[in-house]
Amino acid sequence: MEPLELLIRNTSEVLTVEGSHREPAERALTPQPRASVGVRGGRVAWVGPEERLPPGAVDAATQVLDAGGMFVGPGFVDPHTHLVFAGERASEFDLRCQGATYLQIAQAGGGIVSTVRATRAASEEELIQWALPRLQRLLEYGVTTAEVKSGYGLDLENELKMLRVVRRLGQLTPVELVPTLLCAHAVPEEYKGRREAYVELCVQEILPAVAQEGLACFCDIFVEQSAFTPDEARRLLLAAKALGLRPRLHGDQLTSGGGAELAAELGAATVDHLEHVSEAGIRALAEANVTAVLVPTSTLFLRMRPYAPGRRLRDAGVNVALGTNVNPGSAMTENLPLAMGLACLENGLTAAEAYWAATRGAALALNLPSHGRLAVGDKADLVIFSCSNHQHVPYHLGVNHARTVLKSGRVVA
Ligand code: NIG
Repeated sequence: MEPLELLIRNTSEVLTVEGSHREPAERALTPQPRASVGVRGGRVAWVGPEERLPPGAVDAATQVLDAGGMFVGPGFVDPHTHLVFAGERASEFDLRCQGATYLQIAQAGGGIVSTVRATRAASEEELIQWALPRLQRLLEYGVTTAEVKSGYGLDLENELKMLRVVRRLGQLTPVELVPTLLCAHAVPEEYKGRREAYVELCVQEILPAVAQEGLACFCDIFVEQSAFTPDEARRLLLAAKALGLRPRLHGDQLTSGGGAELAAELGAATVDHLEHVSEAGIRALAEANVTAVLVPTSTLFLRMRPYAPGRRLRDAGVNVALGTNVNPGSAMTENLPLAMGLACLENGLTAAEAYWAATRGAALALNLPSHGRLAVGDKADLVIFSCSNHQHVPYHLGVNHARTVLKSGRVVA
């Protein structure tokens, strides 16, 4: 065997993750007790007991990492973030703790549009400087790939600015970034009472400009009584599809608005939130193979009930993924392990399903076939944890369990 570039040894177990969401997560996740992982060319080249390593696999140049008797698994994939923004909204958090709701705060001029004001006023350089520490925190929690949305620009110049920031951030951080256009996040203040005209601006100008510059893989829209209607979403997302951007949508978050049914009709990659999804919506997602991205840190942060029905989604055969939704309004946290704990406690997932949702389930949502897995041939995006198996991640709630993080076989945190 050609020598390995890196060997991770002395593990409690190596958690291989492969297979499909249609099988029980407990089968897709296979712990290999006391196994080692070998890396070559940025990919996993070998998994198995160290005593079975083929001759010549380790030479003087092989870097050896001691896992200290703890477990190794694939790095996390965060499929839903809004981590580029200016300003903060701590006072809104305080108001919610005193009883105000997310919608009341938005109607009083706070909410998304207040972050739009701050983001429009910021330069690309400032947005980068503010986003970098958030990305670093994600990485330290074990996130090796993350989606990032625009959505605080809400005009041509500022949506392009946000997506260019995402592209530059991707060159500055080891975290692999997947950009999403979210120009229809809210109706900008200057279009108040003229929502249709803003949707036209998105379809006629923002979307084509983003597609031409190759700045986004997905196009997303917030479908909600306080944001955009299903018909407006259909118009935007069909136009996006025609330009090669896959549709996603924020749906059924604050009210039940047919978001899941629409996602299925449009063949969307994902529908995110789903606290108020209908039974028909759940069935439609399963049939159309649309991933449900749950963001329970947001349900917690907004003091909302109910949590999205993760158990019923999984039982219906829907691929369930988990995101932090890090943003200044509804989830100011980069803590994906906390989301995993909440997914078990409040969305009804098992620990294995939560780990799947934060790795392979999320990678499938982002159309990344060799991410979020750990098997020979996969990208060596790996985490050496400080606990002995995956059940401890949701169990020891909100703690950072990642001890060493590798991206493409290189130690990055
Ligand atoms: O996914 N629901 C809409 N968008 C974000 C919240 C963004 C904000 O409040 O700034 C979300 O929760």
